[in-house]
Amino acid sequence: MERLVVEGGQSFSGSVTISGAKNSALALIAGTLLADGVTILGNVPQLLDVRVITDVLSSLGAQTELLPGGQLRVDARGVNHYEAPYDLVTKMRASFFVLGPILARTGRAKIPLPGGCAIGSRPVDLHLKGLRALGAQVYIEHGFVEAVAEKLYGANIYLDYPSVGATENIMMAATLADGITVIENCAQEPEVVDLADMLNAMGARVRGAGTETIVIEGVSRLHGCEHRVIPDRIEAGTFMMGAAITRGELRLNGVRLDHMQATVSKLQEMGVLIQADGPDGVIVKGHSELTPVDVRTMPYPGFPTDLQAPMMALLATVKGTSIITETVFENRFLHVDELLRMGANIKTEGNAAVIVGVDRLSGAPVQATDLRAGAALLIAALTADGQSSVGALHHIDRGYEDIVTKFADGGVNVSRLVACDPLLV
Ligand code: EPZ
Repeated sequence: MERLVVEGGQSFSGSVTISGAKNSALALIAGTLLADGVTILGNVPQLLDVRVITDVLSSLGAQTELLPGGQLRVDARGVNHYEAPYDLVTKMRASFFVLGPILARTGRAKIPLPGGCAIGSRPVDLHLKGLRALGAQVYIEHGFVEAVAEKLYGANIYLDYPSVGATENIMMAATLADGITVIENCAQEPEVVDLADMLNAMGARVRGAGTETIVIEGVSRLHGCEHRVIPDRIEAGTFMMGAAITRGELRLNGVRLDHMQATVSKLQEMGVLIQADGPDGVIVKGHSELTPVDVRTMPYPGFPTDLQAPMMALLATVKGTSIITETVFENRFLHVDELLRMGANIKTEGNAAVIVGVDRLSGAPVQATDLRAGAALLIAALTADGQSSVGALHHIDRGYEDIVTKFADGGVNVSRLVACDPLLV
């Protein structure tokens, strides 16, 4: 098994280019199924998850081709299957995003229930409620969701929780429904806006993305388009926290600061210097003296749950007491035990974690429990005393493109070694 080996006491000092957003690319790729044509997506991150959902599209009859320069070409004219393979969907839950598009395109869909994961049970009841409201017959049998609809009809849908995936699945299905669909209390994430922008470029009529109400006027067909994936605000936030935890300085290229207000505001409250540098660059400077803060994760535009773990690693090194409250997922503190192995002082009570900063973390062998926890352990290891190694790298590879090269661009070294390597602790 491979591990990332990190010598402690390092400090970011270089410049890193941010990739296209994983959580946008996955929804966009699913959305290309709606077009009776060819779509070219630009700035697609080369990630395990992207390969999985691309394989799902191929299994449904779409022609997919990774082009040089991070482009993905999808020809969805040949889409003729409606059943997504079990082994692929269970590998990556975002494959469930093909449900809405396939149902709208073919009138049928049979998609394995994605199941839970380390951070929570991850139900899909809101996705199914929305599709039923659009007129689909939806059954759950033998671990599969089966949906049938000769035609989908516009409807008014209220989401009990502003679920990102449910908003995206319902919005995609509604683009080909007959009539007007209103989704209320919907997710407002930038990735939802990016998807709506692509759908409109395909000829859809989606209004209000980025607000709590989206209105979709159905059309009879969608054509292909060209669309560029927005920058990954979670990757950018992870590197900002890396610069802060190592008390270093980093230039990030290709960042949408307007997608990161809650993150930037919280880091600036701690005393991290963050300033725009040109149209899409950002300079981040960690200070020797940062102050503790309290963080509460919320749906967008609140503080993102995907940055909760990296923020906890950072706060573990900040003198004083901080409190993190995780309100989005029910089990997203799995990284706490690993940080405790590195000498952090953290106590959890339900969905709250009390972090008392320590002078120095200590290097240790640790395991990534999900992709964001893996990133948190990596930045913690950079500042720890001595060597660390991070295992279960498949989690990190799912969400961070070429992490070793990017860290090297940032002026810090991590090396990917096979577990039996004598250099490992
Ligand atoms: C998306 O997941 C992201 N994944 C997640 O990123 C992110 O953490 C999450 O949104 C929240 O921002 C992708 O976009 C591929 P939700 P999603 O539906 O859509 C409950 C990462 O690290 N819920 O907004 O699955 C659910 O249990 C990943 O990149 C229902 O109750 O998130 C959770 O508590 C992790 N019923 C809350 O809503 C439903 O039908 C938020 O889930 C759907 C969701």
